Amino acid sequence: MKNNFSKYLFSAIILVFALNIVNAQTKNNQSLDAKITSIIKKLTLEEKISMLHANSIFGAGGIQRLGIPEMMTDDGPLGVREDVKQGWGSANLTTDSATFFPNGSALAATWNPDLAYRFGHDMGEEARARKKTIMLAPAFNICRTPLCGRTYEYYSEDPFLNARLAVQAVKGIQSQNVAACVKHYAVNNQEVDRGKVNVEIDERALREIYLPAFKASITEGNAWSIMSAYNKVLGSYCSENDFLLNQILKGEWKFKGIVMSDWSGTHSTVDAANHGLDLEMGTNPPYEKNYFANPLLAAVKEGKVSMKVIDDKVYRILWVTYKTTLSGNQSSGKINTPEHSKTAYDIAAESIVLLKNEKQLLPLNAKSIKSIAVIGDNATRTFHLGGFGAGVKARYEITALAGLKSRLGKNVDIKFAQGYSGAVKSTRRNAAAEPKADSTLIQQAVAIAKSSEMAVLFIGGNRDYESESRDRTDLSLPFNEQALVDAVTAVNPNTIIVVVGGAPYDIGKIKKNNHTIVWSWYNGSENGNALADVLTGKVNPSGKLPFTFPSSLNDSPAHALNAYPGENLQVNYKEGILVGYRWFDTKKIEPLYCFGYGLSYTNFKYSGFSTDKKNYKTSEIITATVSVNNTGKYAGKETVQLYVGKTGSVVERADKELKAFKKTEIGAGATAKVILKITVKDLAYFDVKTKTWIVEPGQYKLFAGTSSKDLTQISTITVN
Ligand code: BGC
Repeated sequence: MKNNFSKYLFSAIILVFALNIVNAQTKNNQSLDAKITSIIKKLTLEEKISMLHANSIFGAGGIQRLGIPEMMTDDGPLGVREDVKQGWGSANLTTDSATFFPNGSALAATWNPDLAYRFGHDMGEEARARKKTIMLAPAFNICRTPLCGRTYEYYSEDPFLNARLAVQAVKGIQSQNVAACVKHYAVNNQEVDRGKVNVEIDERALREIYLPAFKASITEGNAWSIMSAYNKVLGSYCSENDFLLNQILKGEWKFKGIVMSDWSGTHSTVDAANHGLDLEMGTNPPYEKNYFANPLLAAVKEGKVSMKVIDDKVYRILWVTYKTTLSGNQSSGKINTPEHSKTAYDIAAESIVLLKNEKQLLPLNAKSIKSIAVIGDNATRTFHLGGFGAGVKARYEITALAGLKSRLGKNVDIKFAQGYSGAVKSTRRNAAAEPKADSTLIQQAVAIAKSSEMAVLFIGGNRDYESESRDRTDLSLPFNEQALVDAVTAVNPNTIIVVVGGAPYDIGKIKKNNHTIVWSWYNGSENGNALADVLTGKVNPSGKLPFTFPSSLNDSPAHALNAYPGENLQVNYKEGILVGYRWFDTKKIEPLYCFGYGLSYTNFKYSGFSTDKKNYKTSEIITATVSVNNTGKYAGKETVQLYVGKTGSVVERADKELKAFKKTEIGAGATAKVILKITVKDLAYFDVKTKTWIVEPGQYKLFAGTSSKDLTQISTITVN
């Protein structure tokens, strides 16, 4: 009796407490609403219009008379970009260096949402310190073709992995009262013709593959701003796309923040204003001539754009201003702190993917090795700048060679040879022009490889080779690297290949001929330290590929169907929902390396996969459990991946889709019980006719395992 009473009392206290929070929130919202409405009343039409377009490369808004601060945006995905002067050159400041965080696909390869949060949090702190209001990040367009020049900025080919990381990155950034600006909305999956191309796509593919991370970052992550993409979707530019902006984003997802255009990505005044764009960015002076300046003023006066529409845009801008600069929670931020370096290090360390370790050459036995030949331009190259928008003026960046030298100490004789030149001559629009093969560089490399006990050979792309505003023309390794690999491996059988890149490359010949392959990325300020720690075994590799490596480009869906880069500025996404591994699995095409692939220095054995029930209602949650035993002698982190497939579906389905994952640290010899949860509603497909999400009743197969093609654990459930 007494027990029951205290239970009720406790529940009542919790309820009162919760109601108080809700009340306080409602009151806060009401008072913010009143504040913003009263400011809008004080603004002249000219002042309102002045807030809706850029007034410098990255700045907008601000009404001095009323104490409303300007909004300063800045790129981006790899850290807070250096300041630029009008005309885009460096402002040559000494105060704008920042932490360089690993690129987007590196973060995705960690499969670790906590790291995405820390990345956002730390970049948010740096943004604060640099007095930025809006970070133009995270960027997470789906990797539809491996050739896309911005694959390295983005996360993955899978909407679920994409969404889980995007939400945390947004939350992290905004925890610092800095707005995230998620980009590029939507289906900006190629750089070729990005400013003009029209994407024809069926709504199911749009909803199931290309929009989930945007939706999640708005509805779960509560992102305060979003950037419209350069391209057209279903006939209209994304910056004036009523369907994407008004109907889906502001209507269905109830987005309250700012829609800004990509830089110079606005194409009209009346359509853009009425179809959902709030802020025109990336324009050049004279700013009064921008679509959203004098022409918008005229359009309002002519009655083509209503005052209600203008006020709504101003409201959104003020709302974000109150969430950020006027939030009252302004910290002064922090920049280049040891904690930020630690985050960059942790991401890098967890992102590196061990592709092959056939001779167990790794981890290196630092005590017994006497000499190493470190070869390759990428061993001494830095990756913080380049690629156009997403550059960071890193306060420091440890190269791979520096990392190896500092970690291996003086006992190991390390010699270096460049091997190839990675200097790219490129113009903004054209494919990167590579320097000619240089046989002298290869000979020098061969000489040191011959005289060393082992070789660590760095190849891959770089930040000038993979770049915004152009796609690669094929997947081949650049800079004559294959010839270097062949020459070095011929003279030193103990050669470890480290490929550095942000997107898939054709490493088929290397996979066939070489026994030890490590995949690394544009891995941030701590690149070399993290890499050396993985190679020497201080860190057990746990990265998993966030996209499929095709054996040949034509195996990839967009290329197999001749649906890239389109004709006459039209690209038809013929593969529909079968993007990435969904295509390879369903069409039974063997990839070079599959989605989710990545080895460890230890082995994980899966067993005992079960679900809490066998029958579920649509409103329920499936709890799946699997035991993972670390059978080796090293502790390690394993990402358990859970895929679901629908047998006998009424609609076309991919063989299976990722629906849950969890990364867990497991000690040597230990067994972890890993619990994963799937909301049954997440098994729905989008029905184009009724425009609703439908959970089909019937049987579903659940697969758990270590990669998308190594799923030993299978269970069946029924949805009623
Ligand atoms: C890119 C955006 C970037 C903007 C500002 C554009 O070219 O597409 O991602 O935020 O430039 O640098």
